Amino acid sequence: MRHIIDARDFHRHQLEDLFEFTTEIRGRCEQNKNACRAWHPHELVFLVFYEPSTRTRFSFQTAALRLGMDVEITEAARQFSSAKKGETLEDTIQAMCQLEPSIIVLRHDSDGGARRAADVAGYHGIPIVNAGDGGNQHPTQALLDLYTIQSEIHRLDDLHIVMGGDLAKGRTIHSLTYLLSRFSNVRFTFIAPSEFQLPESICTHLREHSFPFTQTDDMGADFERADVVYWTRLQDERRDVPQQSPSHIITPKHCQQMREDAIIMHPLPRVGEISHDVDVDPRAAYFRQIKNGLYVRMALLSQLLRNE
Ligand code: NCD
Repeated sequence: MRHIIDARDFHRHQLEDLFEFTTEIRGRCEQNKNACRAWHPHELVFLVFYEPSTRTRFSFQTAALRLGMDVEITEAARQFSSAKKGETLEDTIQAMCQLEPSIIVLRHDSDGGARRAADVAGYHGIPIVNAGDGGNQHPTQALLDLYTIQSEIHRLDDLHIVMGGDLAKGRTIHSLTYLLSRFSNVRFTFIAPSEFQLPESICTHLREHSFPFTQTDDMGADFERADVVYWTRLQDERRDVPQQSPSHIITPKHCQQMREDAIIMHPLPRVGEISHDVDVDPRAAYFRQIKNGLYVRMALLSQLLRNE
């Protein structure tokens, strides 16, 4: 049973296959956005979201509709599903599986929530797609991030990526770091105060796979060398003491340090850590990421339905 739970489950050849298929879908949809509507009729996807979402929920929903699938959604599942009455995640997933969806896309508020759901749904032969589990991982965001890097930089080997913001709790950072570690000669610079730095387990992963990385609190470090500057917001909802405002904000002044062929990425939403006057810079790729996400998720859902 293939679930999409953890970025580490993807091997390089699977990423390459997925991105080739994504590019095919993108080509078709750019000609005619309904080009794939006849691909998966009568398939049903459940979107079960225990945490707020704009992009990921709309992206999965649009991807499914563009493939001709039917979609059922519960958003704010903490308030509007039986979780409110005290039902466990396992029982909720068990109940949903009785209705025979083809796929369940789950955003859960606890680390490991997607894995727990997969243990139940796998028994019914229903794949779980992790749309974010607490501060742990967000593999489909990382897939669309990686696809964006490939589309814009034209390679995934020999990269220097600077990551900043909430590296400790930012699940997109964790998943993207794991995906990039499938490629060669990738160098990382992680910019954050020590309490926001990358979890030790991911540092260990990078060391074990011989990837050079630097951890610093120096805003702008290595910007002049970077192919990609990937920024994130502070994950205040995952912290006991909320931060008032981000300590490191990207402004046009920082963009001046960057190479002409570099890109600036962000999974969004941003809450002040990239100033709005950066948006007009052609290197700002964060809205283009969203478009790519639609095609990556179409490819992923279609692959799952074809059992590839
Ligand atoms: C991210 C998430 O939910 O982890 N958003 C997204 O899915 N695009 C990033 C975030 O919320 O900070």
